[in-house]
Amino acid sequence: MKQNIRYNPIKLIQALALVLLLTSCSSPNLEKGRADPTVLVALVLIFVLLALVIYLVITLRSIRKKALDFEERYRRLLDDATLGIFQATLDGKNVMVNPAHAHMFGYEGPEELLSLINNVGTQLYVHPERRQEIVACLLETGKAATENLYRRKDGSTFPGYLHAWLVRDKAGNPQYIEGFVEDITERKQTEERLKHQVQRLEVLRQVDNAITSSTDLEAVLRVVLKHIRSQLGVDAADILVLDPKSQRLECAAYAGFKTNKIAATSLRLGEGYAGTAASERRMIRASKIGTQTDHLLASPMLGEEEFVLYYGVPLLMKNQVNGVLEVFSRTMLNTDADWENFLQILAGQAAIAVENASLYENLKAANSKLLFAYDETIEAWARALEIHDKETKDHSQRVTENTLVMAIALGIKDGEELVQAYRGALLHDIGKMGIPDTILNKPGPLTKEEWEVMKQHPNYAYELLSPIEFLQKALDIPYCHHEKWDGTGYQRGLKGEEIPLTARIFAVIDVWDALLADRPYRPAWTEEQARQYLREQAGKHFDPRVVEVFLQRF
Ligand code: C2E
Ligand code: SIN
Ligand code: SIN
Ligand code: FE
Ligand code: FE
Repeated sequence: MKQNIRYNPIKLIQALALVLLLTSCSSPNLEKGRADPTVLVALVLIFVLLALVIYLVITLRSIRKKALDFEERYRRLLDDATLGIFQATLDGKNVMVNPAHAHMFGYEGPEELLSLINNVGTQLYVHPERRQEIVACLLETGKAATENLYRRKDGSTFPGYLHAWLVRDKAGNPQYIEGFVEDITERKQTEERLKHQVQRLEVLRQVDNAITSSTDLEAVLRVVLKHIRSQLGVDAADILVLDPKSQRLECAAYAGFKTNKIAATSLRLGEGYAGTAASERRMIRASKIGTQTDHLLASPMLGEEEFVLYYGVPLLMKNQVNGVLEVFSRTMLNTDADWENFLQILAGQAAIAVENASLYENLKAANSKLLFAYDETIEAWARALEIHDKETKDHSQRVTENTLVMAIALGIKDGEELVQAYRGALLHDIGKMGIPDTILNKPGPLTKEEWEVMKQHPNYAYELLSPIEFLQKALDIPYCHHEKWDGTGYQRGLKGEEIPLTARIFAVIDVWDALLADRPYRPAWTEEQARQYLREQAGKHFDPRVVEVFLQRF
């Protein structure tokens, strides 16, 4: 409370002057009209001196208070930050951290962490050799930005991203290190999943190649089985094909069994797991099958194989069953929804292969089913991306739909082109995978360096997608969506109609959607503000024709 009272130096001096004046007026000398000049001068001098002293004291106090305020605010900032911030000496023995930093490593707070670290050094949570490398890099370049493996109090580890820089004293000698660490577990997991998805996409492509380049059913099915075993981690798999005449399921291909008894399998619909999967058109899952002499087993001799997990998936083509895919594992697997989904997709591929080879009909339908399998994978991919970029939930789906509406409104009729626009829009965010979370989710404006990183995202998209053959034509949007009509955009500074039409359409839709959403760096705009912005940018950022059509429709 006391600290909040403000002393106004001017007022104090005025008050003092008043007191002095009153005392001098009431002095007996004055009354008699014989003012003594020395007394007067002395009084004025004392007055000036006193005023000066008071003024100085008060000014000093307020300066000190400001410094204290600043320190207090600064400390609160560190205490409340969600980012782990640290300062350390070069030898790592003398470290200061904020609470978030200590919590990241599983400690109660800075005191607990520091009491340990200031004894044993930073090897408490980072490998000493690794730290040496970091310090070497800091000494050489003045900063470090690396991914490291950190150890928590309970011994578990997590991947963290370290940004650190070296602070030098006035003479230029290294003094201490400061920086922050970000827990990137979630990002790593998404990346891992993404790698998985890319791998699966590649598998689909290989199966696709096998189907279109071979009429030998068994050869194609063997390719399918090979990928099923490696991608799904199962020990054995087989494909039973429904003979249309006898209506029995016969073994057409198998892999991974200890014996070849499975080759003799011949089941009626409804008989065994496989027959049930076919007659009921549903996937069947069974565990602990090795311990039962189960009458439902596809083949009685499977007992010798010691399988513990079984899946039977009907092969469906235009709603007709044409076979069953069976997979077996000798150990329990972690079969989550993702796993089962890929199993179903591969069963879809096997169904196409069977259809192609044995029935020789409707190749076109088969192709569209094949493409459908790709698109399912792309959609799963886009969903994985939204996890990375929390702010843009459903953004991909929305801009994709709007892109198709606008593409049709602007006269794109070719089905192939629309499909490519669909995939491109869905994947336009893919390049964000390469941008660190600290930049992507930064609550304020970007620095020049951060902006340089951010501007790479269309390039990352290009690098990621261009090796995938069937996505080549879908690249226009991910690669060119930040080009501007007047040539001032990135990645290549294309101008006017040099920019692919779908990318020009997409730019309007993406910005519209971005402006209407809250971003980490600003709140959402109103529709009227966004509309005004598009109008203003027609001919600068955007193709004016696209803006015109857009404003009529949205
Ligand atoms: P985003 O947030 O999805 O925005 C996409 C595009 O919409 C932007 O491309 C820009 O053309 C437009 N846009 C979005 N918000 C605004 C806005 O407040 N004002 C104006 N005039 N236009 C806006 P741009 O500029 O190339 O940025 C690409 C991405 O870079 C953004 O995607 C966002 O992820 C990031 N970014 C841009 N500026 C900042 C920033 O100040 N802070 C942070 N943390 N990120 C930023
Ligand atoms: C330090 O090296 O002083 C801290 C290193 C880190 O937190 O990664
Ligand atoms: C991206 O979409 O590629 C990043 C942010 C944006 O421009 O929407
Ligand atoms: Fe972008
Ligand atoms: Fe976007």
